[in-house]
Amino acid sequence: MTRLRLMPLLLVALCAAAFGFAGTAAATPATATNALNAPTNDECFKCHGSADVKGETIDVKGVQKTIYVDRAIYEQSRHGKLACTSCHLGFTSGPHDAEQTQNWLATAKIGACRECHADVFEMYRGSFHGNLVFGESSGEAPVCADCHEAHNIMPPESQEFRAQIDTLCANCHADALETYLDSYHGKAFYLGEIQTAVCTDCHGGHRILAPSDPNSSVNEANLIQTCGECHPGANDNFVQFMVHVNPKSPSSSFLVWTFYMAYVLLIAVVFTFGFVHSGLYIYRGFKDGLYKRNHH
Ligand code: HEC
Ligand code: HEC
Ligand code: HEC
Ligand code: HEC
Ligand code: HEC
Ligand code: HEC
Ligand code: HEC
Repeated sequence: MTRLRLMPLLLVALCAAAFGFAGTAAATPATATNALNAPTNDECFKCHGSADVKGETIDVKGVQKTIYVDRAIYEQSRHGKLACTSCHLGFTSGPHDAEQTQNWLATAKIGACRECHADVFEMYRGSFHGNLVFGESSGEAPVCADCHEAHNIMPPESQEFRAQIDTLCANCHADALETYLDSYHGKAFYLGEIQTAVCTDCHGGHRILAPSDPNSSVNEANLIQTCGECHPGANDNFVQFMVHVNPKSPSSSFLVWTFYMAYVLLIAVVFTFGFVHSGLYIYRGFKDGLYKRNHH
């Protein structure tokens, strides 16, 4: 009897243990304990969560950013239980000394993410963007926290996250956005159909490579598979559909450009003919006194 009554308790305990394990599986053991050490966030929020500091800004790579961190938003994010110091390594209760603030941005933006998301980091490292950052020390390519808002990490499959991917890429790829919005998917997306293909459905988020790279998801050889994720039965013919085509540029697609120019020319000719024809007609009307008030 007692044993039976204890069964549910045992089950609950087992479930809790299983969940606990799943939750920390992505993190390395050392940082996982750190991550669960949440109470220290209270200290950080004493200053950074106070409405008083909303107006206080610091220079982050040339952009003025508020030092205010919205506690409610942070705590409902996927990182809600993470200690601030798991990314802001070495930070103690402020005001901070030079030693703490030195290089904090570089560490927080990639280094810290790498600690807990090593698999994603490796993918990113080998990508076109990763190569720019690590190979050429370029500051122009995006790092982890450029695509994932530092203090508001959302599940990537959420509507909110998908809905902003176009602008996220467009910060640096305005031309590609323009041609995308001209395409079938782009128009559907613009009308609010979020399940249609967005940039990262075709390009990936971390393994982004140039289309000429045979490993790229948008390389000709891999398009059937990439498009096939959503268009079962996609074949060679189907994937000829052009996503980024600028009709005004002959180098984008000569065929489309030719049709575009022919179309523009046709419209110009039709309108010119129309105007000349109407002009002559009206002129003739004046000559024949067609528009006189009393012509009888
Ligand atoms: C006593 C108030 C106070 C506390 C507590 C505090 N901070 Fe700060 N923090 C500040 C102020 C003021 C600034 C902006 C000026 C500066 O750098 O000192 C700042 C700046 C920062 C910055 C930007 C660094 C820079 O200046 O470039 C980070 C990151 C930061 N704090 C993280 C933390 C973390 C993490 C905690 C908790 C361990 C924390 N702070 C606790 C007051 C505080
Ligand atoms: C997952 C890593 C991570 C965690 C956890 C984290 N931060 Fe940050 N934080 C960053 C990154 C990355 C930046 C730089 C973002 C940017 O470019 O503005 C940043 C920037 C800041 C800044 C400078 C102002 C700004 O927005 O750039 C402050 C202040 C700050 N964090 C405080 C905190 C506090 C307080 C906590 C805990 C409640 C916290 N951070 C938790 C990654 C993190
Ligand atoms: C160019 C934008 C971009 C950059 C840079 C980026 N991500 Fe992502 N991330 C995405 C997108 C989009 C998704 C959604 C899933 C997908 O398409 O891969 C995602 C998904 C994720 C996920 C959850 C799904 C998974 O694959 O595990 C994690 C964790 C993640 N990113 C961490 C990181 C880390 C860590 C970095 C830096 C090494 C990083 N991201 C850099 C755009 C980006
Ligand atoms: C201390 C460990 C730790 C650090 C540091 C950390 N993360 Fe996370 N991250 C986690 C945990 C734990 C989760 C939630 C559990 C999971 O991955 O399923 C998570 C979830 C995420 C998710 C959502 C994944 C999903 O499927 O919903 C993204 C995106 C993400 N992290 C990006 C980042 C980025 C970007 C950075 C650096 C700015 C970073 N993380 C730093 C531990 C960490
Ligand atoms: C912070 C700026 C930045 C962001 C954000 C960004 N990129 Fe890039 N990306 C670059 C730079 C810089 C290059 C290299 C120069 C170039 O080719 O435009 C590049 C190159 C590329 C390439 C290879 C281009 C080629 O010419 O072969 C692709 C594909 C690409 N990015 C896709 C994306 C997608 C998809 C997103 C959004 C998930 C994105 N990028 C977000 C800066 C960015
Ligand atoms: C339906 C799939 C699909 C979607 C959605 C998509 N792309 Fe592409 N993208 C491709 C393919 C295929 C190529 C290679 C052929 C080409 O250039 O047209 C490509 C090429 C590119 C290139 C490199 C070539 C160039 O134009 O310089 C960039 C950069 C790029 N895309 C960015 C983006 C961005 C940013 C978005 C979202 C606004 C996006 N793509 C949406 C399939 C897609
Ligand atoms: C994330 C899923 C997704 C991916 C990946 C994707 N598409 Fe689509 N595509 C859609 C959706 C959703 C529609 C709208 C279908 C409808 O109207 O019901 C669509 C519509 C289309 C249409 C319009 C005609 C039709 O069949 O409905 C074409 C053409 C098309 N896609 C081509 C492509 C090509 C080529 C690729 C790969 C380069 C691709 N798509 C990748 C989701 C996707």
